[in-house]
Amino acid sequence: MTDGATPTRDYVSGALAPVTDEATVADLEVTGTLPPELNGRYVRNGPNPIDPDPATQHWFTGAGMLHGLRLRDGRAEWYRNRWVRTDEVTAALGEPATPGTRRDDAPTAAVNTNVVQLGGRTWAVVEAGQWPVRVSDELDTEAIDPFDGTLRGSFSAHPHTDPRTGLTHAVAYHWTETCVRHVVLGPDARVVREEPVEVGGSLMVHDTAITETRILVFDLPVTFRLDEAVAGSVFPYAWDPDRPARVGVLGLDAPGTEVQWSDLDPCYVFHPANAHDTPGGGVVVDVCRWERVFDRDRLGPNEGTPRLERWTIDAPGGRVRTEVLDERPQEFPRVDERRTGTATRWATTAGLASAGAAHAPLYHHDLRDGSTTVVDFGPTSAAQEFVVVPRDGSTAEEDAWLLGFVTDRAEATTDLVVLAADAPADGPVARVHLGRRVPDGFHGNWMPTTD
Ligand SMILES: [Fe+2]
Repeated sequence: MTDGATPTRDYVSGALAPVTDEATVADLEVTGTLPPELNGRYVRNGPNPIDPDPATQHWFTGAGMLHGLRLRDGRAEWYRNRWVRTDEVTAALGEPATPGTRRDDAPTAAVNTNVVQLGGRTWAVVEAGQWPVRVSDELDTEAIDPFDGTLRGSFSAHPHTDPRTGLTHAVAYHWTETCVRHVVLGPDARVVREEPVEVGGSLMVHDTAITETRILVFDLPVTFRLDEAVAGSVFPYAWDPDRPARVGVLGLDAPGTEVQWSDLDPCYVFHPANAHDTPGGGVVVDVCRWERVFDRDRLGPNEGTPRLERWTIDAPGGRVRTEVLDERPQEFPRVDERRTGTATRWATTAGLASAGAAHAPLYHHDLRDGSTTVVDFGPTSAAQEFVVVPRDGSTAEEDAWLLGFVTDRAEATTDLVVLAADAPADGPVARVHLGRRVPDGFHGNWMPTTD
């Protein structure tokens, strides 16, 4: 940590305090009517460190824990929470090591950021080098599994499946490389492309966005610090005032050397909402933009608040026009993933509570007319990431359910909340009461089943 790099909060207390057990709760109480067509699992990943030191625990490196619910026929059959059993977790719990190969024979650390269903199987995933961990339908860890051995390098917490082709795209990085890599998986979740894109430095690149023809590379000024790694930092990445910010545009099957860069004002983006091509050859991408991260506080993003912006790249390599869509603090944007890569009317984000506050609403943005529906869950409640689940047989974006966790900070309990995407202001159509608190975490997904 350099001079002045002083955390002003910790990442293991309050809403982020880890839970200490693994629970299985059957036949959960439901308020309202759970849509019977919701047949599947909602599963979410997030850090849940074991015996953390508040002074040094980085938000991004706590052991991963999955929280999931099984819904069927209008009932909530179960809730489970399970650690993702990387080597640090099995060692701490006194269990045998998880089967599977390790990257570079190194022990596995936290895999805590997202959980995705690819090729009919489920993986917990993280950026920066740890390989994916395959888990069962009931959230038990099965293996360290780099996609049947087809992944050579690192992966990402944010794979995006192109609904037109069934291919899944991600941008991955590793501290040993001065490139990032465009990783593509086939519909069977086996890697078919790992294309390097030279960036001349070792970056932290959290996410990407695709259009129908291109993928974006966010080259933003958070870089690896070798001296801090040598000194023992577990997440040695920091704001780099000397590195310019830019966004790259690369054809989905083009050589990495063909990337075209557009300059940006300094900022950091963890998450785009979606992107699309414009008729003139440009690209539009909506993002949650932070002015700065990991400068004074190295343990988590805690410098300013992110706002929703639209970036229009008039032509690859050309200037970027920026439009503020919503100034309010918000993150975790999600859209109807049937529209990934094409113009989306709706985007949902989770409001971020100001320091010390409990209250955080959900925002449902109409990107066509610029209006926003604010869904408020009460004076002591905070929404986490909400996902879009299409209704059976539907095609319209509005014809969907919105699912996510809402935690009552005062009661220390969490509900899985279901909203109608065409009437979010009407409030929940169902609340599944977990009777426990789910720590605020990162990303989840709906995983439908037919059984
Ligand atoms: Fe993320």
